[in-house]
Amino acid sequence: MEKQTDRRPGAYARRRAHFALIFFAVLAVGLFAWNPDNLYLWIKALHIIAVISWMAGLFYMPRLFIYHTDAEPGSIQSETFKVMEGRLLRIIMNPAMMLTWILGLYLAWSVYRFQGGWLHAKMGLVVLLTIVHVFFARAVRAFERDENRRSARYWRFMNEAPTVLMILIVILVVVKPF
Ligand code: HEM
Repeated sequence: MEKQTDRRPGAYARRRAHFALIFFAVLAVGLFAWNPDNLYLWIKALHIIAVISWMAGLFYMPRLFIYHTDAEPGSIQSETFKVMEGRLLRIIMNPAMMLTWILGLYLAWSVYRFQGGWLHAKMGLVVLLTIVHVFFARAVRAFERDENRRSARYWRFMNEAPTVLMILIVILVVVKPF
């Protein structure tokens, strides 16, 4: 019987992700062509959808690393975690991160012309979040080669990094304290 970790379901998942990306791109281009009075709000809605998808991945990935660390290299569990991590990174997190950046930069330029202390601080923290993303992506490749040397405790600790950054970013963008 076919398993979800086999190649075919993986190819389906990739196709669905490509479809979602194309749908998102067509929606964005359609919005620019239509140019409604509240275009800014539409783009902000798309930005928040992309942010939620990216954050979901950033929260879940270190949880997978924690369990993967305990799995014996070469075991069925370990191979299953490799598939889960690879798909989460390539199908959800990478596209969501790119969309968050593109739409966020548009919002920052179109209304704020990249001005404002809160915006600079927010962008600085998003750069840190992106560094965390790259760090997780490198860990996925290390796990794929069975070369992870870090403990489950370490990954539990790393689990907190996206949480703390997300809290600060949301406070900055909503409260705009400076
Ligand atoms: C990639 C770089 C990013 C840039 C340049 C950026 C920029 C912006 C800008 C200019 C706004 C509009 C603010 C307003 O109209 O009041 C906005 C909205 C928002 N952003 Fe981002 N953003 C980025 C990434 C993120 C990330 C990573 C998060 C969450 C972790 C986030 C969460 C939000 C939220 C929740 C809003 C809605 C705020 C509101 O309407 O009150 N953004 N973003």
